[in-house]
Amino acid sequence: MTSRPDFDRIIERHNSNSYKYDKLRETFGTTDLLPMWVADMDFASPDFILDAIRARCDHGILGYTLTPKTWSDAITSWLYRRHGWTVEGTQLGFIPGIVSGLALAIQCFTQPGDKVLVQSPVYPPFLHLPVNNGRELVTNSLVFDGQQFQIDFDDFERKAADCKLFILCNPHNPGGRVWSVNELERMCEICVRNGVLIVSDEIHIDLTLPGYTSHSPGSFTPEIASQVITLMAPSKTFNIPGLSSSFYVIQNDRLRKQFKAYLDKAELGMGNLFAILAAQAAFEHGDAWLDQLLAYLANNIAYIDNALKADMPRIKACIPQASYLIWLDCRELGLDDEALNAFFIKEAKLGLNPGTSFGVEGSGFMRMNIGCPKATVELAMNQLKAAYKARF
Ligand SMILES: Cc1ncc(COP(=O)(O)O)c(C=O)c1O
Repeated sequence: MTSRPDFDRIIERHNSNSYKYDKLRETFGTTDLLPMWVADMDFASPDFILDAIRARCDHGILGYTLTPKTWSDAITSWLYRRHGWTVEGTQLGFIPGIVSGLALAIQCFTQPGDKVLVQSPVYPPFLHLPVNNGRELVTNSLVFDGQQFQIDFDDFERKAADCKLFILCNPHNPGGRVWSVNELERMCEICVRNGVLIVSDEIHIDLTLPGYTSHSPGSFTPEIASQVITLMAPSKTFNIPGLSSSFYVIQNDRLRKQFKAYLDKAELGMGNLFAILAAQAAFEHGDAWLDQLLAYLANNIAYIDNALKADMPRIKACIPQASYLIWLDCRELGLDDEALNAFFIKEAKLGLNPGTSFGVEGSGFMRMNIGCPKATVELAMNQLKAAYKARF
C-alpha cells in the first residue's frame, strides 16, 4: 500500500546536477532566483516507482534488459483506463525521449528540404528540430484571444497543402491548451486530405487537469489513426524525465515497420533498465497518485490566478487546461522583451522562460512552472507582488 503523497515537502535540489537548479547562473546570470522554468516538478517521484527501482538495485546486477510484455500491457491498460483508447501491445515501442522521437520521426518520414508544419508559440525543439535536420520549418501561428490559444484554420489549411509532416503538441505547450475533438478532427482531416503525416507529441496528456478531457487522434477513425505517430511518456506525469522512458504508438503497420527499422539502424530500441521498470510501475499503480497531483496543481493554478487578479492586474494568467506551466500575459506592463525578462530576474528574482523562446508570437509573455510545493508558489507570488508594487 502506498502512503499519501506529500506534495508540500520542500526537497533541496541545488547541487544535484539538476538542470533547473544548477544551470541558473549560466542561464540567468545569477543564482539568487526561484527556478520556475525547466519543465520538471519539485515533487518526489511516487513511492511505487522509487520502490521498483530500489528493488532492482538490491538485486545488484544492472545488465542488458528485455522490454517485457508486462511493460506494454501496463501501457495499453493505462491508455484504455485513462483515455478509452484501445491499442495493441505490438503497436508500441520504446524511444529514448520525446524530443529524440520527434527528431527520429522527422528523419525517418521526410527528406531534406521537405516542409514540416508546427503551431507556434511552441516548445522550442519543435522550432529547431526541423531546421537542424535540414527540413523547412512552416509555422501556423496560434491566435491568443486574451484567454486561450485558438487555431487559424484558414492558415493551417493553406500551409498544410505542401507540408510532409505536422508536429502536433497535444495538449499544447506553452499555454496548456487541451484541443477539442472538433479542433483535432479538423486538423487531422486537413492532414489526411493533403497526405500530411501527423506526429502527435502527447507528453502532457496525462496531466490534463480536472474538468478537461484530452483526446489522442490515434483513437479517431481508422483513416486518421493510420496517419498518426503518437509519442507518449510517463516522464512529465510522474516526474521521472531524467530516466528516458518514452514510447511510440503507431497503428499503421507499414509506418511502424519503417520507424522500427529506422530505430534499429541506430540500435535505439532496447530501452533503459530503470525506465522500463519505472514506466511499468507508473502505469500499473499511478492512478490515485496522479489524481491527487492534478488536484494539487489545480490548486496552485487557482492561487496564482487569484493573486494576480487581486494584486497584479496587469499580469494575466492563461489558465492551463493541462500541465503545470502557466503562460503569463505581461503585455500590459508595457516592457519590451528584454526589459520584461530583466524585471522577472532582477526585480522579482524569479527564473521563468521568456515567451520569445517559444517563437515570435511569445513576445510580451513569460512561462511559469508551478509544479512545486504551495509554499514555493506563495513565495514566488510574494516576490512578484513586491517587484510589481515597486515598479508599476
Ligand atoms: C511538448 C514537449 N515535448 C517534449 C518534451 C521533452 O521530452 P523528452 O524529455 O522526453 O525529450 C517537453 C518538455 O518540456 C515538452 O513540453
